[in-house]
Amino acid sequence: MPTKKTRSAAHPDLESVMFTEAQIKKRVRELGRELRRVYGEGEFTIISIINGAVMFTADIMRQIDNPVRLDCVRISSYGNATKSEGTPQIVSSLTIDIAGRHVLLIDDILDTGKTIKLVSALVSKLKPASMRTCVLLDKVARREVPFEADFVGFRIPNKFVVGYGLDFAERYRNLPCIGVLSARVQNQHEWT
Ligand code: IMP
Ligand code: MG
Repeated sequence: MPTKKTRSAAHPDLESVMFTEAQIKKRVRELGRELRRVYGEGEFTIISIINGAVMFTADIMRQIDNPVRLDCVRISSYGNATKSEGTPQIVSSLTIDIAGRHVLLIDDILDTGKTIKLVSALVSKLKPASMRTCVLLDKVARREVPFEADFVGFRIPNKFVVGYGLDFAERYRNLPCIGVLSARVQNQHEWT
């Protein structure tokens, strides 16, 4: 009898699934509780680093019922590379006033630390009342610029991951899980 072909991962381009949709949901709910413990019922302003943090931001915002304001900053991306190279640049900056406001910076992943350092510096200059940072993933081993986020979803090993907002050459952001991109895909350049 022919055996049914099984696949270990949720997508053929993934080597493995690191976090399932259910695991992400559970952790995002916990992070929501951590945020409520810190901010109480007060208002704060979320600054989301797009595109990567789009899904995480949308989900975490729905875990809190504080009055929140939202703005986004767009930072130049890796392009089709899987390693941070050069210095990130601000492509599109803030549009709302954050002076005297409590600010929560949200990013998908903390890698070398260059992106979050750049955005933190931008925010600090605008004199917020406070600034905290929240990242879904933290690749601690890759840090080049010392930085610790206040809220961390998962600490992960040095693997290139995609899904749940994270991309490779703008693909895979829509996967509901987070998985390790296969070496085969990382090495192919037909999308460039
Ligand atoms: P950093 O400036 O090196 O800390 O890089 C942070 C940015 O790089 C994140 O906002 C992501 O957009 C991107 N990034 C870092 N690691 C990964 C990964 O494993 N998969 C997808 N994007 C990543
Ligand atoms: Mg990003």
